[in-house]
Amino acid sequence: MIVVSAVDALREQVAQWRSAGERVAFVPTMGNLHDGHLALVRQARELADRVVVSIFVNPLQFGEGEDFETYPRTLDEDVERLIEAKADLLFTPAVETLYPRPRQLQTRVEVPLISDMLCGASRPGHFAGVATVVCKLFNLVQADVAVFGEKDFQQLMVIRRMVEDLCLPVEIEGLATVRDEDGLAMSSRNGYLTKSERATAPALYRTLQLIAVALSTGDRAYRELEASARSELERVGFTPDYFQIRRAEDLAEPTRGDRELVILAAARLGGTRLIDNLRVDLD
Ligand code: PAJ
Repeated sequence: MIVVSAVDALREQVAQWRSAGERVAFVPTMGNLHDGHLALVRQARELADRVVVSIFVNPLQFGEGEDFETYPRTLDEDVERLIEAKADLLFTPAVETLYPRPRQLQTRVEVPLISDMLCGASRPGHFAGVATVVCKLFNLVQADVAVFGEKDFQQLMVIRRMVEDLCLPVEIEGLATVRDEDGLAMSSRNGYLTKSERATAPALYRTLQLIAVALSTGDRAYRELEASARSELERVGFTPDYFQIRRAEDLAEPTRGDRELVILAAARLGGTRLIDNLRVDLD
């Protein structure tokens, strides 16, 4: 695997592959790689001849008082895991490479409406930070296809919308959430949990499953279902941020007749904010 942090070296290598007629897949990450990230890399391998992975903890998507400084940076282990997963190139730019100017002078990509709800409501500016860095990375890597996790359902939707609105020449693939045996969605932030919080954490997914069962047995009292899920999460020790049943297509509030739904939740456990979601297809 080639490891580069300079833009020129990245561009040269990818241009060489592309001129040889090879298809390139891209997996952007913030590192501290777990089996969820590696599933994306394996999927990328299936989809293309060459796989580019980026590791960049993007300051623009972190708000004030969030965990940018303490976000786990484990480059040596990540490189080992990527070699095992047969990635071809790892791009690890420095912050000054992607953001040579002060933060307030950086051109931004704003995807309206879907960026402002759910995680966007609790983390103002977060999705503009994500869309901006992913747009820059797409322009640098020039991949044919990019792979993202459905674990970050709203993020995936923001990226699909950006690609469509800005006519970016890249296909977007979504991959199902990879979970630990007890159901907890894998996340770099799970490492922040204490032992007892880790034991409580799977309740987030269990609550999503409970609500999914209620929906599939015909319950359409969305507001009541959301409220009961929030109480259940509080009962076991979470501080819920949101718990919402939405239309899967556009994250709008669902009507009684909608068949393709997604339940999305974010909740704090001690100092750690966990998110998860579950799709419910009533057909
Ligand atoms: P990060 O949290 O490192 O996630 C990188 C990719 O891995 C995202 O597409 C995310 O959805 C996916 N992923 C994370 N946990 C997963 C799991 N348990 N199962 C399947 N996929 C999972 O998301 C980001 O970084 C950043 O916002 C980024 C897109 C890189 C922009 O900075």
